[in-house]
Amino acid sequence: VNEGHGVKGLAEMSLETLPEKYIQPLEERISTSKEVEKEFVPLIDVANWDDPKVLESICNAAEKWGCFQIVNHGVAIDVLDNLKDATHRFFGLPVEEKRKYLKEHSLSTNVRLATSFNAQVDKALEWRDFLSLFYVSDDEAAAFWPPVCKDEALAFLKSSEFVIRKLFEVLMKRLNVKEINETKQSLLMGSKKINLNYYPKCPNPELTIGVGRHSDINTLTILLQDDIGGLYVRKTDGDTDSWIPVLPISGSLVINVGDALEIMSNGRYKSIEHCVTANGSKNRVSVPIFVSPRPSDVIGPLPEVLESGEEAMYKQVAYSDYMKHFFNKALDGKGTLELAK
Ligand code: SIN
Ligand code: FE2
Repeated sequence: VNEGHGVKGLAEMSLETLPEKYIQPLEERISTSKEVEKEFVPLIDVANWDDPKVLESICNAAEKWGCFQIVNHGVAIDVLDNLKDATHRFFGLPVEEKRKYLKEHSLSTNVRLATSFNAQVDKALEWRDFLSLFYVSDDEAAAFWPPVCKDEALAFLKSSEFVIRKLFEVLMKRLNVKEINETKQSLLMGSKKINLNYYPKCPNPELTIGVGRHSDINTLTILLQDDIGGLYVRKTDGDTDSWIPVLPISGSLVINVGDALEIMSNGRYKSIEHCVTANGSKNRVSVPIFVSPRPSDVIGPLPEVLESGEEAMYKQVAYSDYMKHFFNKALDGKGTLELAK
């Protein structure tokens, strides 16, 4: 049923009301009335990476928020705009074309079209379709990624490489890691996956969710969002617990700290719990790059961090186990981190 049509297929049936299985329990919906005060995630101008103020802002944002936006990062606006267009183009393909990329038909295990988060285990479904592209090599991408979006996705991956390296250099400096050697390179950015997310306009957006509450499990996520909005991050501070919108800023990239970086930094950098609301008037797209350890890596607090005698807050875990755990259950905030405690 509905094979390959996803949520977009449903949205195009001009439904007047949301199908029941998409109705989320009250506690999983995001009531934006909880926004106590208008506070926003830090916006950092990274035009000059060597400026100590840039280092200070990035490290502080990673410690206090686990989320920030960067501008003047050097990724060309055209690369970003073309990728948003390509995402609309992919999801606009006829269903016979899209179906080829479903798990059961895809010619590569690195290319997968899916809907919701994990329809097998989700209690209520999420209002999102997505295409996951795990990067192995240019040749593999050329052979298996959908022609309507592969060049654009690759261009984003390539042109964000410099930004990713700079972010890690800055974040590692504060942790006393002097050099990103081969081992660190693998742990921090040994593998990459890019998702094209599509959130169709929804008949009853207040009853459902685009993506449920979760923290990313990888080290850093570099996220491109369009101008529609809907991404919220959770800020807990003493008695306040609020959901803060990550406002779309033209040309910016959103950076999320993931669980693997929280673990490696022994809790100094915090992964950020976030979610995406559904919206009633527009089709939203977003494109995260998940920068991750290699699946064969074992992650734990970095030796440089523990050198000062600080007690390890997390144990060593195989990243493959961490991934398995995350993907085989419904989204549950920062729940996967328990595995490392
Ligand atoms: C996600 O965190 O999974 C998606 C973020 C977004 O669409 O803005
Ligand atoms: Fe996420």
